[in-house]
Amino acid sequence: MDNNKKTALITGATSGIGEEFARRFGKLGYDLIITGRRENKMKIVADEIKKESNVKVDIIIVELSDEKELENLIKVIENKRIDILVNNAGFGVSNFYDKEHIENFINMEIVHVKVPMRITYTVLKGMIERNDGVVINVSSESAFLPMPQNTVYASTKAFLKIFTEGLNLEVKARGKNIKFQALCPGFTKTDFHEKMGIEKSSQVDRGIIKWRTPKYIVDYSLKMLKKDKVICVPGIENRILIRLLSLLPKKNYEKLMVNFCIKSLKVK
Ligand SMILES: NC(=O)c1ccc[n+]([C@@H]2O[C@H](COP(=O)([O-])OP(=O)(O)OC[C@H]3O[C@@H](n4cnc5c(N)ncnc54)[C@H](OP(=O)(O)O)[C@@H]3O)[C@@H](O)[C@H]2O)c1
Repeated sequence: MDNNKKTALITGATSGIGEEFARRFGKLGYDLIITGRRENKMKIVADEIKKESNVKVDIIIVELSDEKELENLIKVIENKRIDILVNNAGFGVSNFYDKEHIENFINMEIVHVKVPMRITYTVLKGMIERNDGVVINVSSESAFLPMPQNTVYASTKAFLKIFTEGLNLEVKARGKNIKFQALCPGFTKTDFHEKMGIEKSSQVDRGIIKWRTPKYIVDYSLKMLKKDKVICVPGIENRILIRLLSLLPKKNYEKLMVNFCIKSLKVK
């Protein structure tokens, strides 16, 4: 990939996986367009990247679940050349479907489904014309694992996975050189869980559950991108877990998940 004055657009680059992608593509010489909501933190991240990598960093503060704000973002990017897109912005809600405010789930569907669709649509035409580009959609290990109290999150992440696989087939069918990746991390040490009210102190390895760093996730993503791997699951433990659970008869899978929910998540 020739990276001479190319641009990477990363949504949700305030912290965690998105911040790590921004720093990494900065180091590779890409100018950056990064989005987020925590303005002060965004400015700090952008200043650090400019110093580290001497690239241009444009910050767009946007609440992605807001239709008008999303359209403003689309207007800013629609005439720009975007060489790498990372649809990363996302958040978690852990609750039974009937117990949560429906708006929270609808916003999740917008941020995880509508927003990546809309942004990808905006930048893909240019990538196809240039016959060059990369789209990384940050999905989740949850895309493979239906689980109580994680239904909408897992469903939206499963959409992202299939969306990515489908787009990859569409460009391959036309002989185009666009790389697609559905990045499916397991537990990762970011601000994600704290925002859900889960203390950072609980981010400890237990048995097959390992907490990976954003650096680990992005290292693996970039390694798999070079190998043209469309589905990318960082962490051997996660690849084994997904494989083993997929081999279980449905009844056993259900029993396991319900028990996990009752015991580990302390359902009353
Ligand atoms: N951490 C994990 O264990 C894990 C595992 C699998 C997949 N993932 C996925 O990885 C992606 C990145 O998450 P992370 O773990 O790095 O968490 P994070 O540190 O909380 O970063 C999430 C980013 O998304 C932005 N964002 C969230 N909701 C938004 C909204 N409504 N409008 C605009 N921006 C919004 C946040 O902006 P502000 O902070 O500025 O508000 C932040 O920049 C997410 O899609 C998540 O689902 C995470």
